Amino acid sequence: MERSMGFGLRLVEPTQSLRLGEDNGMMVVPTDNIKSGQVLAEEVRDISGRLLLSKGQTIEANHIRIFKIWGISEVNLVGAERQEDTSDPLMDPAMIEQTKKSVKALFCHMDLEHPAVKEIYRIAVQFRCKHNIIVENDNLPVDNQSIPRHDREKDFPQKLKKKNIILPELPSVAFELKKVIENPMSSAEHIAQVVSRSPSLTAVVLKIVNSSFYGLPSKISTVSHAVSLIGTQEISVLALGISILSIFKNLPKETIDMHSFLRHSLVCGLLSRVFAAHKNVPQTEQLFVSGLLHDLGRLILYIYFPDESRNVLVRSRNHNNLLYKEEKDYLGCDHAQLGVQLMKQWKLPLILRNNVLYHHKPSEAPQSVPATIVHLADIIVNSLGIGSSGEKFIPPLDCNAWENLELSPSSFETIIGQATHQFQALESILHT
Ligand SMILES: [Fe+2]
Ligand SMILES: [Fe+2]
Repeated sequence: MERSMGFGLRLVEPTQSLRLGEDNGMMVVPTDNIKSGQVLAEEVRDISGRLLLSKGQTIEANHIRIFKIWGISEVNLVGAERQEDTSDPLMDPAMIEQTKKSVKALFCHMDLEHPAVKEIYRIAVQFRCKHNIIVENDNLPVDNQSIPRHDREKDFPQKLKKKNIILPELPSVAFELKKVIENPMSSAEHIAQVVSRSPSLTAVVLKIVNSSFYGLPSKISTVSHAVSLIGTQEISVLALGISILSIFKNLPKETIDMHSFLRHSLVCGLLSRVFAAHKNVPQTEQLFVSGLLHDLGRLILYIYFPDESRNVLVRSRNHNNLLYKEEKDYLGCDHAQLGVQLMKQWKLPLILRNNVLYHHKPSEAPQSVPATIVHLADIIVNSLGIGSSGEKFIPPLDCNAWENLELSPSSFETIIGQATHQFQALESILHT
């Protein structure tokens, strides 16, 4: 059955809440379409189950703001009328069909009958229609000329040695932050001191702390205040991740679209963090940083192995194959292994390294839940089409790891709503 929603999309198989809502004279309305004065037909809770507003309450302007901060994408209202935005060009059914078709092609390595994949596909079509995200042609030559396998030296340090490549050192501020993380006795003053040494890092940390990422009620103007509210470990790990990606900030445009890469990484980090909070996994910041750094190895490839990177990309298009599988076939190792080598050299915590190493095969990870969270976040960010790290197809779901995670696909919409809302608030840090 097909039906249309307020924001002009046709959805196959509406959710249970939509059906129940309508049967009882209520209507599920997207948060963007709520107006002050409307009355809630059902209570609204955030993903941690905290009550935001009770059933029967009249909605005021500040409530709508709170819903947005907490990523509530829709609420159930009394007597609300369906709001068709007929001015929206995305109403065009032909365009929606086209989006479904092109997104389906990206899912060719996925089992669309799997309930989790089915839900990700549904949300991806909806999201891409709403935000006008088209499946772009990357203009890579598909000449069908086979590119033979390259130097398949598995030992990464050997590979670098052959090319006389010296990888970047960990920035001194990141090195100091790592020491703070490793020392359980570190004080709020200590971490504040380290972060404050870098004005740009201070600015970014404060921006994150004051955004809907944390949803704190008042403005925080110093790092020490942020640490006292959020915690030493959390702020340190957050600052560490940011300072690491800043190493690669000023790459020449012809090498890689770094902005697109950072968008992919940031949304993967945000989704990982929200999934972690939803699953009550402690230290959600570690998951944020794992998501942020999950494709770090691709940066090494693009920067130090540009010819090989291009060949891998062309091979993946020629073979209609996943990029990470082509990396392994062509180079003997994939970007996850390369990224971890660099993280090892920097002596970053083992849990971060494992989340990165196993993000395409989390069922093999020593701790599968955090690795599965990053895996799922990567699948979703690829599906939504926010930024890119070079992969054209949606990486396949590790079904065993998914079973272990014990998560309902019905939670995806809220989690994605919350993470993408945080992304809107944070996107400007990519320009800092
Ligand atoms: Fe990856
Ligand atoms: Fe990725």
